Amino acid sequence: MSPDAEFRGRLALVTGAARGIGAAVTRALVARGARVVATDRDVQGLDRLAADHPERLTARPLDVTDPAAVEALVADVERTIGPLDVAVNVAGILRSSPVTALRDEDWAATFAVNTDGVLHVSRAAARRMVERGTGSIVTVASNAAGIPRTGMAAYAASKAAAVMFTKCLGLEVAAWGVRCNTVSPGSTDTDMQRALWAEAGRTDLDAAARQVIEGDLATHRTGIPLGRIAAPDDVAEAVLFLASDRARHITLHDLYVDGGATLRA
Ligand code: NAI
Repeated sequence: MSPDAEFRGRLALVTGAARGIGAAVTRALVARGARVVATDRDVQGLDRLAADHPERLTARPLDVTDPAAVEALVADVERTIGPLDVAVNVAGILRSSPVTALRDEDWAATFAVNTDGVLHVSRAAARRMVERGTGSIVTVASNAAGIPRTGMAAYAASKAAAVMFTKCLGLEVAAWGVRCNTVSPGSTDTDMQRALWAEAGRTDLDAAARQVIEGDLATHRTGIPLGRIAAPDDVAEAVLFLASDRARHITLHDLYVDGGATLRA
């Protein structure tokens, strides 16, 4: 089958689709034939995305922290558009702070999006996929879930929880042919990454990127062996692979897309 037809006839839901990695996942799914329900709490960003892809893309505002809104949207999509074949959790936030200065509201907000949001969307999708005996759920976590990072305790813990949640869900639904996997990116060139550099007082983005690539002993970070910051499309490729039939025998997997930054064997 040609790559542009891989998802023909499939319906996918993507959260955090308005920009960055979510937008790249959405574009790649549409390019390969899927119909996509692109969701985000950023309505203007969704409008921009929808304007570029008038065909096969339905843009719907959604805040993943709201379980009732998630359930209502998934029910409505299934009633009015069709059964979901694929659900991709991309929505995420990063609020960096050393633990000693971490505010309760930042911890709670981080978990509300990165962990609870994954529960809300995956649960709503999995219930229906189990009934049909088919489906694939992919959660975008982070390589910070697998290695300690300074200033990122809340983020890393929320992502580690999302990874383990997705694996446990995958175990529960495997008997019904529903697959659940995670993609764990390293530094990827998006607004989130650039905001992190700006917060650290880095105005020269090229220099900031170079430092990430080279590593920083002061914060115990190895660099990126492949020598580049990821593009959102690099992460989207991994998501699409896991969502596709090419990965039909892969579940409970955590695929690192970080250029080797966490030195995983
Ligand atoms: P981004 O900040 O560029 O985009 C995130 C999107 O999620 C935004 O459109 C935002 O409106 C949406 N969002 C946030 N809270 C939401 C909510 N409550 N409900 C619905 N939508 C919400 O971020 P980026 O870089 O594209 O990140 C995408 C995912 O990849 C996130 O889960 C992030 O944690 C993860 N990631 C990103 C890395 C990077 O270096 N950029 C590295 C590792 C993981």
